[in-house]
Amino acid sequence: MSVPVAPGRLPLLGHTVPMVRKRFAFTANLREYGEVVQVDLGPMRTFFVTSARLTHQILVSDAQSFHKGMMFDKFRPFVGDGLAMSDGAFHMRQRRMMQPAFHRERIGAYAETMARAARDLAGSWRPDEVRAIEVDMQGLAVTIVGETLFSTEIGKRAIDEARRSIFIVIKNAMYRVLSPGFVEKLPIPVNRQFDEAIARLHAIVHEVITSWRAEGVDHGDLLSMLLLARDDETGEPMNDKQVYDEVMTLLTAGIETTALALAWIFHEIAADPEVERRVLAEVDEVLGGRPVTFDDVPKLTYIQQVANEVLRMYPLWILMRRTIADVNLGGVHLPPGTEVIISPHAMHFNPEYYHHPERFDPDRWTPEFARELPKGAFIPFGAGNRMCIGNHFALTEIVIAVATVAARWRLAPVRPVRTKFTSAAYPVDLLMKVVPR
Ligand code: HEM
Repeated sequence: MSVPVAPGRLPLLGHTVPMVRKRFAFTANLREYGEVVQVDLGPMRTFFVTSARLTHQILVSDAQSFHKGMMFDKFRPFVGDGLAMSDGAFHMRQRRMMQPAFHRERIGAYAETMARAARDLAGSWRPDEVRAIEVDMQGLAVTIVGETLFSTEIGKRAIDEARRSIFIVIKNAMYRVLSPGFVEKLPIPVNRQFDEAIARLHAIVHEVITSWRAEGVDHGDLLSMLLLARDDETGEPMNDKQVYDEVMTLLTAGIETTALALAWIFHEIAADPEVERRVLAEVDEVLGGRPVTFDDVPKLTYIQQVANEVLRMYPLWILMRRTIADVNLGGVHLPPGTEVIISPHAMHFNPEYYHHPERFDPDRWTPEFARELPKGAFIPFGAGNRMCIGNHFALTEIVIAVATVAARWRLAPVRPVRTKFTSAAYPVDLLMKVVPR
């Protein structure tokens, strides 16, 4: 079957120009051309899927025929071979060893850290102060993942280092992925900053691991879980390199993503008085003035709907995979080694699945609506064997942070928000005034 080619292709450059210029609009509109559309990233031919059915095939029903592919090959040298990067049997082994650290009762224990960190942030604000909310949410997300990972004295230094370095690493890793290889070798300040940030993180995380091994005590933190985990087939623990790679993976995968969702959630709550009224009413009714606990999370149903709607409207732009076997994708034969692109954003803005997708509408998230959505149409955390291991962690963190802040403050927009589109839509200088309730 011949595959339609996306519009705007140029010799050598392929579709790089419309991808960079039109970004999310370019990929969201590809559904007009077919269910599988050819998109050339420079000289590389890739296939973009535009339906929930084929998205589900790649992520879930045919997942064993795919590895993570090109984008991740470029990330691996910086963040190692942790869970988000590894493939095949090694990935499965690591996932089995790490899964217990994300079980419900563990998240229940992390919830206390989440609530305290959110209370500390809300307690540091002054009435009518204007805050850069995306910066506050980044700080909150570093504290939460950091304190969940490292609970010891020396761990505090690792958290401070993460606060200083992790955003430098994330931002520059993205640029490196998009740039030709020679750019990362140039002696320019961004490269030096990046290399220094990685080196500092590396040194302190190794120090924490070494001191843990010397004591051998379970501190009840996520790092202890990683160090105590055993492969259920061989009985082997992870070596220091694997533990380091997994720590770096959790820092890079678990902080920026959650901070972004939190920033947008406060923006959206403030943008609609009715949404705000219902959030505040729910917080008052469920908490009645006491601090939020893990047991409150399932009762905060409206905040969960608001969170779902934020995750729908502000997801990752694209995910990539590479075939490792012959695959029939909607009648198109893909030989091994073919790169495919999935877009959570394009799925979430498809009017076939979401009525008025551009409208922020938490009320669409009734249990029936969620049940009846086609598989593959709502994928903020991916799906299948590579689905986000931190999804419950993130949702718990979001609900706890929103409830804690909303119990004390109303956040008022100061000016219209500007958005920067990179791997997702990011708010730029999201200034909000914090008004006591
Ligand atoms: C709102 C917040 C978050 C979003 C939107 C998000 C999104 C995602 C997505 C889409 C994937 C799948 C990528 C793919 O299929 O290629 C993923 C994987 C992953 N995420 Fe998250 N994530 C969030 C929070 C977290 C947190 C809090 C953690 C850890 C503390 C975390 C750790 C991971 C890891 C380790 C993977 C790789 C899983 C695997 O391949 O087995 N994420 N995340």
